[in-house]
Amino acid sequence: MHTKCLFRSNLNLTKVTQITMKFFIVLSIIALAAADEFKVRTTDDLQVFRQECGKELNITEERLEKFKKWDFGDDEETKCYIRCVFKKFPIFDDTTGPNVENLVKQLSHGSDKTEEELRTEVTKCVDAKKDNENECSWAFRGFACFKKSNLQLIRASTKKD
Ligand code: BEZ
Repeated sequence: MHTKCLFRSNLNLTKVTQITMKFFIVLSIIALAAADEFKVRTTDDLQVFRQECGKELNITEERLEKFKKWDFGDDEETKCYIRCVFKKFPIFDDTTGPNVENLVKQLSHGSDKTEEELRTEVTKCVDAKKDNENECSWAFRGFACFKKSNLQLIRASTKKD
């Protein structure tokens, strides 16, 4: 091949490689952003989370049936079940605690309240982990606090698809 032609062909190949690389970088950024975005969970998701947490925590079918009816106690099994389900949403993290923004998005589903109103409500029940408690207790405390005045909001958020 002529030297000039060979040079041009190499240049084209470099350009194609650069464009392909840029394309994959942009695609990766989009995929990462999409993976990071919270997806509102439905009743079907909750059923899966219940079963998974039941298995992970060795909860009996009998107790799991009670949890499904919101018949919760004040014991370690209940607290760790709540933490497990919340982590799967994910609206709770063992290190950072309740995830306010994910909670707001989840609760907006099936609610007439604005995100701002919901954020105010959620924030009232968010605090740091206490020295004398574990992650289960931390997650449960947030849930118990929020449930006091917003029980319907939690129920409604997973009712609609
Ligand atoms: C449920 O299984 O319905 C449930 C789990 C965690 C918090 C609230 C409800």
